[in-house]
Amino acid sequence: MYGCAVQLDWLNAEANLREEVLAQCAQLTPELAFKWLAVEPRRGELDFAPADALADLAAKHGKTLRGHTLIWHRGTPAWAEASLRADKDWTLLERWLASIMPRYAASVSEWDVVNEPIETGHRQDGLRQSVFLEAFGPDYLRRALEAAHALAPRARLMINEYDLEYPLQEQRDRRYCLLKLAERLKAQGAPLHGVGLQAHLDLRKGHIDAAAVTRFCRELAGMGLVLRVTELDVKERDYAAPAAERDRRVADETRRYLDAVLAEPAVLGVSTWGLSDRHSWLTVGADDYARFPGAWTHDDGPGLNRGLPWDAALRPKPMRDAIRSALGAAQAQKS
Ligand code: G3I
Repeated sequence: MYGCAVQLDWLNAEANLREEVLAQCAQLTPELAFKWLAVEPRRGELDFAPADALADLAAKHGKTLRGHTLIWHRGTPAWAEASLRADKDWTLLERWLASIMPRYAASVSEWDVVNEPIETGHRQDGLRQSVFLEAFGPDYLRRALEAAHALAPRARLMINEYDLEYPLQEQRDRRYCLLKLAERLKAQGAPLHGVGLQAHLDLRKGHIDAAAVTRFCRELAGMGLVLRVTELDVKERDYAAPAAERDRRVADETRRYLDAVLAEPAVLGVSTWGLSDRHSWLTVGADDYARFPGAWTHDDGPGLNRGLPWDAALRPKPMRDAIRSALGAAQAQKS
């Protein structure tokens, strides 16, 4: 039930990371290799070498691979975006799906068909004003799911979304809009099978709203959807605290979140967005330093964000224990 996002270059360059990932994970998510931008940066020049290598690695070690992600406003090559805007040609999207989905039919049984379609504050339906919406209207989601289903009839098809955890108005709206979207798609008979909860937790935003998260999961499950935590990690707030305290806060928030989500039996598993703090998209930036004026001298500092289950030296942290015990408890409840 546990997996993480990987970049093959890192697994190849760092034997200890590769070993730990293979020992700990049942499922791997390509952090970059399956994105349209990575596969076809120039029109017609498709390079599947990194994705193939990852699929081989997964097969060799008996790991499942998540198909992340087919349609994403930030994962689309510039040439394709320009072309979609100019021609509104649906077959361009279909060709992309047809180039990747059948190729990995044996290794991928779950696809993030549309990533991050929600954006509140613009339209009443809360759909992001992406190039896909602009070219094809709100129906692009149903059409994409239908096209994906035709290409991979046995695969689980998902929408993957972020910012669904906090008691903030924007996040309440995002939860509501995603529920409504799922409801509409199901009512239309679209082949939507699940929702991916990215779960990029953020201690700067306070604590997650556990009751709202559980309710949200229950409502999705009530539509017959399965759920997966797909990109769990924790952005820290207080970098000036001692490392043990930082790790405790990260683990506590992880536990709070996983207890809330895993209360819903339709949750299939949990993936973190990386395994070790050594490689994380969450970095300590100028804003973070600015919150603690004078806390560090130039050769001293807070180090890396500590929001993944293993530290940079690949020692397991309390976050690892939190994930392990939450998954263990969920498993015990199911059996
Ligand atoms: O590897 C090159 C490096 O050689 C080059 O010098 C450098 C200069 O920009 O770029 C490096 O590639 C970057 C890559 O991350 C390496 O990690 C890309 O520019 C950068 O765009 C890419 O960002 C990824 C991002 O998605 C966009 O694809 C992040 O790693 C990845 O963690 C992030 O993942 C997303 C999920 O797919 C969706 N949910 C949010 C999540 C975090 O943003």
